[in-house]
Amino acid sequence: MTTRAALEAHAVTKIFPGVKALDGVTLEVRAGEVHALVGENGAGKSTLVKVLGGAHAPDEGRVTLDGVPLPHGDPVAARRAGIGIIYQEFTLVPELTVAENIFLGREARGPFKRGPFLRGADMVRDARAILEKLGADLDPRTYVKRLSVGAQQQVEIARALASDARVLVFDEPSATLTDQELTRLFETIRELRSRGIAIVYISHRLEEVFDLADRVTVLRDGKHVVTTEIDGVTRTQLIHWMVGRELEDEYAFRPREHGETVLQVESLSDGARIRDVSFTLQRGEVLGFAGLVGSGRTESALSLFGRLPRTSGTAALCGEPIDFTHPAQALKRGLGYLTEDRKKHGIFGDLSVAENITVSNLFDYRTGPFVSSRRQLAAADAACKTFDVRTSGVDKKIAKLSGGNQQKALLARLLCRDLDVLILDEPTRGVDIGAKSEIYQLIYDLADRGMGIVMISSDLPELLGTCDRIAVFAQGRTVGVVDRDGATQEKIMELAVSEDVA
Ligand SMILES: Nc1ncnc2c1ncn2[C@@H]1O[C@H](COP(=O)(O)OP(=O)(O)OP(=O)(O)O)[C@@H](O)[C@H]1O
Ligand SMILES: [Mg+2]
Repeated sequence: MTTRAALEAHAVTKIFPGVKALDGVTLEVRAGEVHALVGENGAGKSTLVKVLGGAHAPDEGRVTLDGVPLPHGDPVAARRAGIGIIYQEFTLVPELTVAENIFLGREARGPFKRGPFLRGADMVRDARAILEKLGADLDPRTYVKRLSVGAQQQVEIARALASDARVLVFDEPSATLTDQELTRLFETIRELRSRGIAIVYISHRLEEVFDLADRVTVLRDGKHVVTTEIDGVTRTQLIHWMVGRELEDEYAFRPREHGETVLQVESLSDGARIRDVSFTLQRGEVLGFAGLVGSGRTESALSLFGRLPRTSGTAALCGEPIDFTHPAQALKRGLGYLTEDRKKHGIFGDLSVAENITVSNLFDYRTGPFVSSRRQLAAADAACKTFDVRTSGVDKKIAKLSGGNQQKALLARLLCRDLDVLILDEPTRGVDIGAKSEIYQLIYDLADRGMGIVMISSDLPELLGTCDRIAVFAQGRTVGVVDRDGATQEKIMELAVSEDVA
């Protein structure tokens, strides 16, 4: 292993209107190492990645590869030089196939052009080989728009690998991958490292950082805090560097009284992914949904929320039967759902932060027939303060916010409403450790006010830390409910894999 820096960012500064996203940041990544990049939401990680990949031109400083300066703000040059980036927000073209996306931008000159025609068959064959190496079970001829978020992530990775990258940058890949996919990704990353590729890995899950990284760089408020070998660094120390203060008990669970049943679901089925789901939820209760990916947790939530039809079973909200055919009905009756896929369903990227936060209750901001933008801005401003959404102004487009801050804005949208039941699907995915604790406290506050909360999460410690009870899903069925007292990861996993029937 060489210790020479392959990729270097020298004193990079990047200023957006109203924000200094990067302030003289230096990063050097060596060939054959995994270099973790950590920091709170909005610390500047993705901005640094975009500077490395040429998507942003720095205002000051420069990027060099093996000592050779890269042209500023030139993504094509960066890619040709061997920098492959898997961006946090996907950059695939939904209307193209997997293979076309993998080789996007290269077909015209690339090996697939024989005479005037693209050799589709060659492209599919090569794409298949790369996907196989990744362990991704994907047909290269599928249209990307038909893929799950996890599968799209794999295509992003395959695309970076296809261009023979010497440096690979992963901006929060684990936020969208299943456990199995993640294990495979880790294998791939270790493999690439042993081949001498320099790897930058961004994640809010510190376990991954300790598991995978050789060195770590911490950013805070756009500034470089420290770069060090991971060996000998404790979790507490790392968190301290990230947030600049001590963080007590992450979950800080508060027990509370439970009221009457607010949601009762019996034998829910959609004839496909949901086969037999039953549970009850009390006022003031936080009920977790645990299960493997594909166990029907999200589908059950979508069915209750009116986005997926049901074929049999019953559900009652506050004692009244419900069978919504549209989310608007659900919201009106007091049932809310926070999506796990904010890019596809949650965020209106072209609208402002304020509009995104207030979009589902615009009526509240009406004066006469018009929506009062002054009141809308004021309400959004207040919500951003409550939920600690960091933005230089609520009138800015939401797409300009860092990933974790987008998530908090979405939560703010839902929590602005008066609901009886709130279903949160992976609410802390991509959210930093400080903001996570804040979100848990917000959830407890809502439960204290008598709301029933369902929390879907793939993070078992999170469910164990925050829920009163946990319903375990397996293959479209609820296979058990465990109480907070006596619940363990092993017990839940045992249930989650229990139902091995066809
Ligand atoms: N295109 C843009 N225009 C304006 N401001 C931006 C833009 N991109 C990022 N910012 C701002 O720059 C700061 C750094 O954002 P960045 O996305 O780099 O954070 P991050 O560390 O990746 O956070 P997260 O963990 O939430 O993904 C934030 O304050 C963000 O709002
Ligand atoms: Mg980011």
